[in-house]
Amino acid sequence: MNSLSDPQIQMLIATASEARQRAYAPYSNYAVGAALLTKSGQVFTGVNVENAAYPATMCAERVAVFKAISEGEHTFEAIAIVTPNGGFPCGGCRQVLAEFGLETIVLIGDAAGHLLHQTTVRDLLPGAFTPDSLKHS
Ligand code: THU
Repeated sequence: MNSLSDPQIQMLIATASEARQRAYAPYSNYAVGAALLTKSGQVFTGVNVENAAYPATMCAERVAVFKAISEGEHTFEAIAIVTPNGGFPCGGCRQVLAEFGLETIVLIGDAAGHLLHQTTVRDLLPGAFTPDSLKHS
């Protein structure tokens, strides 16, 4: 079971808020920051990176996950996501997070750096299609 201390929660929200300032979001003006805590204690940040060809945009959560994976970290404790208004992760990001564990804690914060919600990937993606789903006889 994943669990976080209050200082860890505050650290993750603060780190995601700080990262949010580096978002590249000139089209939506909706800056998102993420901070992903691995089981080994490392923190990988992510921001949304938009593109003039809009569909080429990448979400903050996926940037953080892909950075971690590309550095050899596959097991996650929690991810904090900070948006202007406390928005929740999109479906694509829920699916990418589900790949690496349904118990990952998801913290949602707003522009003021307030924690608004604490949930899990399992609760955000009921009936998730995971690596286990591909096992068949
Ligand atoms: N966005 C994220 O970074 N994460 C989400 O989970 C939802 C949406 C970004 C994508 C785009 O740059 C902007 O927010 C507006 O959709």
